[in-house]
Amino acid sequence: MIMEGRGGGLFERSTPSTLNIAGGLPNPSKFPLKDAVFNLKNGDSIYIDEKKMAIAQQYGVTKGYLPLLKQVEELVLRYHNPPNYANSRVIVNIGAQDGFSRTLEMVIYVNPTASNPSGMTLTKERKKKIYEIARLYNLLIVEDDPYYFLHFGEDNEFPESFLSIDTDGRVMRMDSFAKIISSGFRIGYLTGPEPLVDKYIQHSEMTMMHPSCLSQDYVNGIYRQEECSFG
Ligand SMILES: Cc1ncc(COP(=O)(O)O)c(C=O)c1O
Repeated sequence: MIMEGRGGGLFERSTPSTLNIAGGLPNPSKFPLKDAVFNLKNGDSIYIDEKKMAIAQQYGVTKGYLPLLKQVEELVLRYHNPPNYANSRVIVNIGAQDGFSRTLEMVIYVNPTASNPSGMTLTKERKKKIYEIARLYNLLIVEDDPYYFLHFGEDNEFPESFLSIDTDGRVMRMDSFAKIISSGFRIGYLTGPEPLVDKYIQHSEMTMMHPSCLSQDYVNGIYRQEECSFG
C-alpha cells in the first residue's frame, strides 16, 4: 500500500524512493455511506454528494480538508489580519481544547473574550500590556478564544486579538466552531508561528491523524451558507 503524506509532515521530508507502509487505506468501494443531507432548522440543507462522501469516509489530510482550510485562512485574515502572517500557518484541528492542551511550558495562557467562567473580555490596552510582558520575558502567548464570535461588543466590532498585534510571532491562537456551529462535530482552527504549527502537525500525524472528514465537510457547508460570515 502506498499512502500519500498527510500534510507537510514526515512523509514529505523523506527521500523520493520511500514507500509509506505505516497505514492502510481501506477500499473505498466498501464504504457504507453513499451520500447525506443535513437538514437545518431554518429550512436550508447541506448535501454531501457521492464524491464528497467517498472522500469523507477515507483518511484525510492532517492540516485539514482543503476547502475548509481555505475558508478558515480567510477568517483569520479577515478578523485578525496578523502582522506576522507571512511566517505563520493556519490549520484545521479538533477544537480549542486540543490546541491549548498541546502547547509548551513557558507560556502565558489567556482566554480573552467572554472568558469562562467569569465572562470578562480583556480590553485592548490590557492585551497590549500582557503582550509587552510576554516580550520582556520572551514568553509564548496561548490565546484560547472559542467565544470570540460571541462577544457582547457593538455589532461588527470584534475584539482586537493577540494574534492581530503579534509582530514577533509569539502567539498561538485557538479558534473554535464549537460555540457557533456545534461542539459535538469537534472542529476548530489554530494559527501560529509556522515552526510551532509544523510541530503540532507532526504530533497530530502520530496521534489523532486528522479531524473527522465528515465534520469538516459539514462545517464547510454551513460556512458557505452563512456567506463566510459569523459576525
Ligand atoms: C475557555 C475554553 N477553552 C476551550 C474550550 C473547549 O473548546 P473546543 O470545544 O473548541 O475544544 C472551552 C469549552 O467549554 C472553553 O470554555
